[in-house]
Amino acid sequence: MDGPPPEVRVLGGAEALAGAVGDQWAAAAAEAISARGRFAVALAGGSTPRRAYELLAAREGLPWERTAIFFGDERCVPPDDPRSNFAMAREALLGRVPLRREAIHRIEGERPPEEAAARYEVTLRRELGVPPRLDLVLLGMGSEGHTASLFPGSEALEERSRFAVAPATPQAGVRRVTLTLPALDAARQVVFLVAGEEKRAALAEVLAGARGEGPLLPAARVRPGKAIFLVTADALPATPQP
Ligand code: 6PG
Repeated sequence: MDGPPPEVRVLGGAEALAGAVGDQWAAAAAEAISARGRFAVALAGGSTPRRAYELLAAREGLPWERTAIFFGDERCVPPDDPRSNFAMAREALLGRVPLRREAIHRIEGERPPEEAAARYEVTLRRELGVPPRLDLVLLGMGSEGHTASLFPGSEALEERSRFAVAPATPQAGVRRVTLTLPALDAARQVVFLVAGEEKRAALAEVLAGARGEGPLLPAARVRPGKAIFLVTADALPATPQP
C-alpha cells in the first residue's frame, strides 16, 4: 500500500517517547476491539522499546484478554537467549500482564531460519488473514535505516508474496526472521520508535525518502495506511540556527 507520508511526533526524551508508545497502543487497542473485537499488535525488537513495554505492563485498563501478540522480527536464537526479541518482550511485558498464552505468537527462533519463517507465515495467515491485517506494528530503526530485519540491499525488500521470510542478514551477525513489506504495509498503523543522536543521519534520510525527496532506505519503504515516527529531540537533525 502506498500510504501517506508518515507523521513525525517529537518527544523530549526516551521516557516521554516510551509513554507516547503507550498512548498510541491504548488508542489503537480501543479502536480495534470496538470495531473487530480483538487487538492484534506486532512488537519491535532491539533496545529502544524495552522502557515502553515496562510502562505498558504497569498501565491500567488495557484489554489484555482481547489482545494478540505478534513480532515484527526475531533473531534465530532460542527464546531464552539474551539476544531474543521474545526474551526481552517477555521480561519487560509479556510475563507481567494477563495475556492468554495462545494469544502470544512467537517466531520460533530455535528452528532453522527458513522453517521458522514458513511456520510464522502459516500463523500470520491463519490468525490475521491474507494479507495479515495487524492493528498496530511497533518498529525500531537502525542507524543505517533498517527496520525489523529489513536491511539496506536485502532481497527481503523485494518480497511481494510472502509475509515472513528469513533473508541473509550479513549486517546483523545472527540470522533473522522478519515481516516483509507486504505485511507491514497491510497494517492499520505502524509506529516507529527512534531515539538518540546516533539515529539522526538515518532518520533525516528516511524522512526525506518518505517525502519523495531522497533514496528509500528500508524504514522509508514501509507505507501502511497510517505511519507515525515517535522520535526524541536528539534524533532529529540539528535545526540550523538563524
Ligand atoms: C532488532 C530490531 C531492529 C531494531 C533496530 C533498532 O531485532 O534488533 O528488529 O530493527 O529495532 O536495530 O534497535 P535499537 O532500538 O536497539 O536501537
